[in-house]
Amino acid sequence: MARAELLDRLRELQPTTSRAGARIFFAPGRANLLGAHLDYNGGSVMPVALSRGTYLAVAPRTDRLLSLRSAQFPGEAVELPLDELRPRRTRAWTAYLEGALWACEQAWGRLPGLDLALVADLPMARGLSSSASVECVAVFACARLLGRETEPDEMIHLAHRAENLYVGVRCGILDQAAILLGRPGHLLLFDCLEMTREHLPLPAGLRLVVVDSGVQRELATSAFNQRVAECTRALAELQQVAPGLTCLRDVDRDLLERHGDRLAPILRRRVEHVVGEVERTERGAAALRAGRGEEFGRMMTAAHDSLRDLFEVSTPELDALVEAAVAVSGCLGARLTGAGFGGCIVGLVAAGAEDAFEAAVADAYRRRCGREAEFHWFDPGGGPAEIA
Ligand code: GLA
Repeated sequence: MARAELLDRLRELQPTTSRAGARIFFAPGRANLLGAHLDYNGGSVMPVALSRGTYLAVAPRTDRLLSLRSAQFPGEAVELPLDELRPRRTRAWTAYLEGALWACEQAWGRLPGLDLALVADLPMARGLSSSASVECVAVFACARLLGRETEPDEMIHLAHRAENLYVGVRCGILDQAAILLGRPGHLLLFDCLEMTREHLPLPAGLRLVVVDSGVQRELATSAFNQRVAECTRALAELQQVAPGLTCLRDVDRDLLERHGDRLAPILRRRVEHVVGEVERTERGAAALRAGRGEEFGRMMTAAHDSLRDLFEVSTPELDALVEAAVAVSGCLGARLTGAGFGGCIVGLVAAGAEDAFEAAVADAYRRRCGREAEFHWFDPGGGPAEIA
């Protein structure tokens, strides 16, 4: 949908009393190209911000009431006092907005009451961070409303607290960093332990595509939290022989070969994924610095294999899409994006090959899975902004 149309929908959603005084903010979604499941293991990630995301209209009220509306959940408007915000209060769609406001109040003091209206230009539960996009746009909007000069790193932490503590997903900071640090035309290389970053240009002549499998993520929260717990258990086991170890990112091949037998097979597979993914992310970053898109693409496809076989978060539909994608001449690499368990893949494709790519992947996917794939081409976008 075009931006003007999305903004019209946003205005229609707002209470008439607050339309005139509302400010409108945008935050993107994200796709992750390398560093899958490394953020909560202390590693580096390589995401991009998308040009699609979430639009939020905000108007202050004179009381301490919140009124929350979303075009995605018509008829499910919620009104509640700010004083009733409590972690894990609800599992409804409002949890992401509530969590962001709760985190901002905790850090910055009392907020005024607010009328909030939301329109998302991202499919939900498809691995494109629709939820972190909501958290980030709300934190960004609060900072602006309060007139705060807030650094992106502080906003990353607040949006992350919203997801971890209020919503209850034990994610790392990949999504929030990708969204708040997005830069047009660039990928972000972000070290989730040191919080250091580098913006690397996407080599000229390459396009990114998100291909939606049309399958919602199943049991994503519980399966995701289970992966986090497995990594925590594997770390505790390895600390018995390597007491200085603070996160799985610091496990190298040598340590894994010497002590991998201590681990149950499933935990060993998880650690093998992390060790390989740390190596791939380093190689991928070096390849991009040297403008070697093909090598970067190969790392993406190898990451998918590892997510399928070792981390076990892929699905038959995502595997079929990746196989179909990498068989197309002009596709440099492809992998599932987000946590896995359904949703989308992301591919790196030479400019000019877009039509052939869509035709071949759509056809292969239809034949193999009996489903229609949806294609979204994009160039890496920027971070959040106030747009009206
Ligand atoms: C989800 C989480 C992120 C990250 C990815 C996997 O998107 O929210 O923190 O762990 O999965 O890389």
